[in-house]
Amino acid sequence: MTDLDTLVHAAAASFAEAPNPAELENAKARFLGKSGRVTELLKGLAQLPPEEKKARGAEINRAKQQVEAALQARRDALAAQELDAQLRAEALDVTLPGRHRGTGGLHPVSRTMERIEAIFGSMGFDVADGPEIETDWMSFTALNNPENHPARSMQDTFYVDLKDAEGRWLNLRPHTSPMQVRYARSHAARHAEALAQGRPIPEIRVIAPGRTYRVDSDATHSPMFHQCEGLWIGEHIAFKDLKAVFSDFLRQFFETDALDVRFRPSYFPFTEPSAEIDIAFASGPNKGRWLEVAGSGQVHPNVVRNFGLDPERYIGFAFGMGPDRLTMLRYGVDDLRLFFESDLRFLTQFR
Ligand code: PHE
Repeated sequence: MTDLDTLVHAAAASFAEAPNPAELENAKARFLGKSGRVTELLKGLAQLPPEEKKARGAEINRAKQQVEAALQARRDALAAQELDAQLRAEALDVTLPGRHRGTGGLHPVSRTMERIEAIFGSMGFDVADGPEIETDWMSFTALNNPENHPARSMQDTFYVDLKDAEGRWLNLRPHTSPMQVRYARSHAARHAEALAQGRPIPEIRVIAPGRTYRVDSDATHSPMFHQCEGLWIGEHIAFKDLKAVFSDFLRQFFETDALDVRFRPSYFPFTEPSAEIDIAFASGPNKGRWLEVAGSGQVHPNVVRNFGLDPERYIGFAFGMGPDRLTMLRYGVDDLRLFFESDLRFLTQFR
């Protein structure tokens, strides 16, 4: 091997070792730069006798070309490597499923609320909405449930040490029943006008769905749950009307006539008489089992008085049902907590 072969090999080796273009340029300088080894050889020609110069010069030039070829080969290889890496990094996997916006859907309890509103709407009921932070007076006192009365524990709520601007105690409403009073009183001016003209008041026929709160938590109770209040007040609204309206509602809601409805005597401070409403299906997983779905009764005269109306003249019924329970029964869900955990695997089944 001649000294020039060795030089070419050394150059090729150090080019091959350069991991990137910057280091390759440094390696190039060591061989082809101003004081690079090839350049030095060329400069050395000057010292040679003229007869040797030509042959030696040609040899060095051939070696130089080989070094340059090795350099170009390494440059090409590094560029190809870089392009490769970039392509790999930016690669598109066209077999991946497309990214799209998922289609949303109503929460199962919202579906139930909409069904309830539609069915009662078809029976001429208005829909009202009210505050979840309620005054003690609305939650209890106005509903014939005096301060410190033990019956308050039936709707035990989260009592907070908080009063509103007018000094009234506040709580998270334990039921939607305050909406009976709020709705009736919000029409007080209309009622007064009718009475002043010697007409009966326009009937009060309303449902009030919404969130309610109690100190309860297990598979069938959640500290936050839903209720839907109903109220129908007029001059001749009787308990039989409650039975007819609510039974009809249940048959429409569950889309079946194969349903027994039972009005079981009960107690609520704000109704007299009072009844718990139970249903039993003629088929399905709950076949023949009585299931409680609502509380109800004829509105107590003291409550009618708090509506701003004369209980000697106005009478009617109220009910409070549990849309969560109705949803569980309609879809066969056995744990109430599933509704409030926001697990999409559960919720998307109702889409
Ligand atoms: N508010 C009662 C409850 O939550 C239900 C009810 C409403 C009972 C209206 C009678 C009349 O338990």
